[in-house]
Amino acid sequence: MMSTVNGRIIAVTGASGGFGLAMAKALLDAGAKVGLIARSADKLESLCAELGPNAFAAPADVGHSEAAAKAIQSVAAHFGGLDGLVNNAGMARPGFADDWRDEDINAQLQLNIAGLMYCCRAALPLLKASTNPRIVNVSSASAEHHDEMAGLSLYAASKAAVERLSRDLRRELAHSGIGVTILRPGAAMTDFAAGWEFERLKSAVTAWQRQGPWMDSGMQPEHVAQSLLFCLQMPAGVSVDLLEVRPCTPVEKFKF
Ligand SMILES: NC(=O)c1ccc[n+]([C@@H]2O[C@H](COP(=O)([O-])OP(=O)(O)OC[C@H]3O[C@@H](n4cnc5c(N)ncnc54)[C@H](OP(=O)(O)O)[C@@H]3O)[C@@H](O)[C@H]2O)c1
Repeated sequence: MMSTVNGRIIAVTGASGGFGLAMAKALLDAGAKVGLIARSADKLESLCAELGPNAFAAPADVGHSEAAAKAIQSVAAHFGGLDGLVNNAGMARPGFADDWRDEDINAQLQLNIAGLMYCCRAALPLLKASTNPRIVNVSSASAEHHDEMAGLSLYAASKAAVERLSRDLRRELAHSGIGVTILRPGAAMTDFAAGWEFERLKSAVTAWQRQGPWMDSGMQPEHVAQSLLFCLQMPAGVSVDLLEVRPCTPVEKFKF
């Protein structure tokens, strides 16, 4: 029997676009109260004005410990508790080993791993008061599958770390009744690669084309949001430990 997210209070990081915004909308449609966390304060405010009173903007860079904690706490203070945390904010910067840049290494590790840990730490005391508490950590198919993209080894490693961390967290939190889920999406159409430098993108794509002519077609963010809802609808005491969602129709790889 499926549980319901109606009335539950869920904080979603990286909620100003891409998967996070689609997740927030799907949760709101299902009756949840959603705290949207991302850096773009103005964008979040206007989104929440459109989304209605069950959407609350909590702008923060979750790569900063204090800001992350403040954002999570403000969501709980606004709605009166916290039932779920979706650690979705994440980023990638392509680069091969002979050209790894300190700033790229630090940025990916800081947001993808440390940011997620800051949010979990801040959410735990709040989640422990919930009757059906959940943490969902968004990973990536690249943590497991080598054909996803070339030049993203550091990103893939950061997501592999998220998965390893999630498994230990699940065991550590079992007695608190907190379900921990790894949500592992494959390629999707978002702004994920929007900021990539052209030369780095080009060399990553060239190397990736050498791996073979076919790629997975891209999913829509709404598909990933749908899989999040499935995870959150498990009844208390039951959790989806790992859900991998990937497109299943191959298409020819694009060329520059
Ligand atoms: N797209 C894919 O193909 C794909 C596949 C597998 C896994 N994923 C994973 O899915 C998650 C979402 O990806 P996406 O494709 O939706 O990315 P996206 O379109 O680039 O959106 C990223 C979101 O994260 C926010 N964000 C970025 N840095 C942040 C920070 N320091 N603090 C708080 N929020 C921050 C962004 O908003 P602001 O700029 O306003 O902060 C934005 O809302 C990521 O963890 C990614 O690794 C993506």
